[in-house]
Amino acid sequence: MCYVFVWVLAVVGAVFEVDERAVSREMLKSALNSVGYIADDALITTLYLSLRLGKPLLLEGEPGCGKTELAKSLSHAFNRELIRLQCYEGLDSSSAIYEWDYLRQLLKIRMLEASGSIPDSEIFSERFILKRPLLRAVTHGDSKPPVLLIDEVDRADEEFEGFLLEFLAEFQVTIPELGSFKAKKPPIVVITSNQTRELGDGLRRRCLYYYVSFPTPERELEILSVKVRGLDEALARQIVGFVRVLREEFDLVKKPGVAETIDWARALLSLDAKTLDPQLVRQTLSCLIKDSSDTLKVDGDALKRAVENATAKTS
Ligand SMILES: Nc1ncnc2c1ncn2[C@@H]1O[C@H](COP(=O)(O)OP(=O)(O)OP(=O)(O)O)[C@@H](O)[C@H]1O
Ligand SMILES: [Mg+2]
Repeated sequence: MCYVFVWVLAVVGAVFEVDERAVSREMLKSALNSVGYIADDALITTLYLSLRLGKPLLLEGEPGCGKTELAKSLSHAFNRELIRLQCYEGLDSSSAIYEWDYLRQLLKIRMLEASGSIPDSEIFSERFILKRPLLRAVTHGDSKPPVLLIDEVDRADEEFEGFLLEFLAEFQVTIPELGSFKAKKPPIVVITSNQTRELGDGLRRRCLYYYVSFPTPERELEILSVKVRGLDEALARQIVGFVRVLREEFDLVKKPGVAETIDWARALLSLDAKTLDPQLVRQTLSCLIKDSSDTLKVDGDALKRAVENATAKTS
């Protein structure tokens, strides 16, 4: 029964009408695999527990290593709407919840005035509201709760983090003119942080936590095999080997993430490359190195040695 279910996941690529709180860890892993997300067992277990316990999942970690992608893949795999709240400095609770549609309100007032009527409280009804992510997340009106991605929460101010704490406790928001809106079923919440500032203990306590580090070479090879079709396996090993050397042996300001590995593999594929050599690597480093001081570090003999190192281990 279980194998049949996993097979269906793999073939269909999305799970319909499945309660994500009832799936096993194996099913969760297969569902994510089927939409191209390759996760470690430890991440799967934390995600599984967050779904079972109904707690938000807080992901911190290296840039470009799959934090945002996990929420997207989850929504895709379980056929749920993805609601994304992109955080930024100065984000306040009202713009995360709703805004009045001033233009429509103004038009309505003009129409009422033209017909000799007096504008009434109707212009402050739900019809004239522009729903922002948090309001959408609690008024989805669907039996299948959406995935609410609160992305890069560290960019928002501490006041907003305080407001989020309240929101995550009740899944309820209040609009003074209209009252409170509470989710019938809480959304699945994924919060990401790039650690540009320390998050408060309150938020951490409310969530299950997972640190997304660089993948192991085996895991990164697996990711390449699903993301870059047609890539020769030997070249894929050299790519993963070289990126690992860059991350571990060079003191880079911006270490390449999985996103960079994928970009580089695609670039090499489009150049019809068969194997790595120092010249090819130098010419395509723009896919991996995104900082001027790092460009100086990965050059000359150091670059040559890194390529030799990566190709020797894979030949
Ligand atoms: N485990 C994974 N499985 C499949 N693809 C992955 C995985 N990790 C990363 N990727 C790929 O890397 C890209 C970047 O990932 P993502 O945007 O989630 O990074 P991030 O951790 O959110 O980075 P940032 O902190 O910069 O926002 C994705 O578009 C995806 O293609
Ligand atoms: Mg991200």
